[in-house]
Parts: sequence; C-alpha cells; structure tokens
Amino acid sequence: MRIDIITVLPELLSGFLNESIVGRAQRKGLVEIHLHNLRDYTLDKWRRVDDYPFGGFAGMVMQCEPIDRCISALTEQRHYDEVIYTSPDGERFSQPLANELSLLENIIILCGHYKGIDQRIREHLITREISIGDYVLTGGELAAAVMADAVVRILPGAIGDGQSALSDSFQDGLLSAPVYTRPAEYKGWRVPDILLSGHEAKIKEWELQQSVERTRRLRPDLLETTRSGDGS
Ligand code: ADE
Repeated sequence: MRIDIITVLPELLSGFLNESIVGRAQRKGLVEIHLHNLRDYTLDKWRRVDDYPFGGFAGMVMQCEPIDRCISALTEQRHYDEVIYTSPDGERFSQPLANELSLLENIIILCGHYKGIDQRIREHLITREISIGDYVLTGGELAAAVMADAVVRILPGAIGDGQSALSDSFQDGLLSAPVYTRPAEYKGWRVPDILLSGHEAKIKEWELQQSVERTRRLRPDLLETTRSGDGS
C-alpha cells in the first residue's frame, strides 16, 4: 500500500509516522508513506498557499493551484483509489472505514487548514471527505495521522501477533475484554481465576461474555448498530 499525504506541516507528521508500528511497517515494506509539502507546489514567490475568501467572509482559504499541481503530479505517476480530504464535514472515520481503506493500493490524503480548501477542488479532485469526529481541529494533520495509524496497523504483518489486530475493540462491533499480565496477584488485586485455569474453551467463553457485558455497559449504541445490521 502507498499513502501520499499533502500538508503544509510535513514536520508535524514525519516524527509520528516514522515511529512505532507505523514506522516499522514502512521499514518492513508493508506500506510506503510519502509526505508532500504543499508549499513546494505553489508558483507564489512567497510560497503562500492561501488567500482571502470571495464574499468578504472571515479567514483564509487554501487555493486551487498548489493543490491541483500537487495532486496532478501524483496522479500522473499512478492511479489513486481515493483522494481523501480531511474535514469536519466528512463521513465519520470508523473501524469499518479503516478496514476498507486498508484494502486499497494507493491513496492520497489532503490535510485541510485555515477555513478549508477552495470548493472547486472538493468538486473536481476529491473523491472522499473524512472527519475523525465532531470537533474542529486547527488542521487536518492529526486526522491524517489517526487515519494512517488505524489503516497501517491492520495491514497483514504490521502487528507481530496476527490475531491481536483482529481482536481489537470495534473489529467485531464489541469492546475488548479486559487484559492482565504477571504477577497474578499485586497488592492483593487478583487476576480472575479463569485466566489462570488453562481451560482454553472456558477462557474464550469468558472473554466473549466480558466483551458483551462491557459493550452493554459502556457503549450500548454499538449493540444497537450490530443488531440493526447497518454497520454505520
Ligand atoms: N480538520 C479539522 N477538524 C477535523 C476533523 N474533526 N476531522 C478531520 N479533519 C479535520
């Protein structure tokens, strides 16, 4: 998989994307992540990429030209399955959406800034707009980082134990069961006996029952979605 991220703040993303599981996935060759500084694509001698909005509204708007030149430079080289724009207006990011994106070959993520991007780019070049939640960030970089992280960690081979990404909260519409590690007793706080029993089938049953109970208590909305089967 290849992810191209277009941003005015590449330094903000490079540290994060080169660390931990995402960094390791890149070094293993499971994913290529390329950062593009939007200012490298403007013809403005001051490297400006934004201007005042028509209509006298407040704030600044990211201009068509640098975005178009950057996206065109990429699409001339290969086909992209999606050109994503990070925006609070977009469809809500979720585990099913991360799963869907992880199956694609090449994606572009354009990070918004200021008041947003010129609407014409949204109409002509963007194929999908995605929000990571109902709040407004100062820019789309954190949203791009969240998406890249959620997508890359489920690529086959990204996480050592192939099972663990699949048993995450949300993968089956349920929250995860609680987990424990050694020692079996700490300050008198004991690990549930069942986990020390070695009885695999009973442990699996306990795990599912804990997942369902936690989901019912903490996120009953997830059970409603699972029951109605619309997956949204
Ligand atoms: N840019 C600003 N706020 C955002 C959000 N909530 N999700 C995605 N991109 C954004």
